[in-house]
Amino acid sequence: MNKREITSVLYEYNSLAELEKVYQDLIESAKEASENAYAPYSKFKVGAAVLLENKEIVIGNNQENAAYPSGLCAERVAIFYANAKYPDQKIKAIAIAAKNNDGFVSEPISPCGSCLQVMLESEKKSATPIKVLLFGKKSITMADSVKQFLPINFSGDMLL
Ligand code: THU
Repeated sequence: MNKREITSVLYEYNSLAELEKVYQDLIESAKEASENAYAPYSKFKVGAAVLLENKEIVIGNNQENAAYPSGLCAERVAIFYANAKYPDQKIKAIAIAAKNNDGFVSEPISPCGSCLQVMLESEKKSATPIKVLLFGKKSITMADSVKQFLPINFSGDMLL
């Protein structure tokens, strides 16, 4: 029997000012994007902002539906939109900000498993790590790659 221990590296910041300006701006875009979320059922509004290689920021927010599973998370709305608009642009970073009825969450939320899977595919497709920034009022979490969240994963190379 072999024991395999897997560790992930996450960086935590106590204020936006500790981050590079480009990431501060990306988080600001994610926060702004959360305003336009369509979340009448959960009342949980999420904004995502994707930074592309060409420096453009593409945003998304969660879009819910009365048939609940038909809705989509902010992260996937943003990534699919970025891929639809700029199919050849690498994604360099994604910022996520979520708010409930009390305002932005204090501690950052993690993207759901399905969004992580989609983020991982973008990372693999472009062979470039995607920085992940998760905003909370009390702390901001940053990872250098989606793999830090999904160290064991399924990907297209396994289909060959
Ligand atoms: N949601 C996101 O948009 N992103 C996440 O990372 C977590 C959850 C959305 C889905 C649903 O509209 C609402 O938040 C509650 O789960």
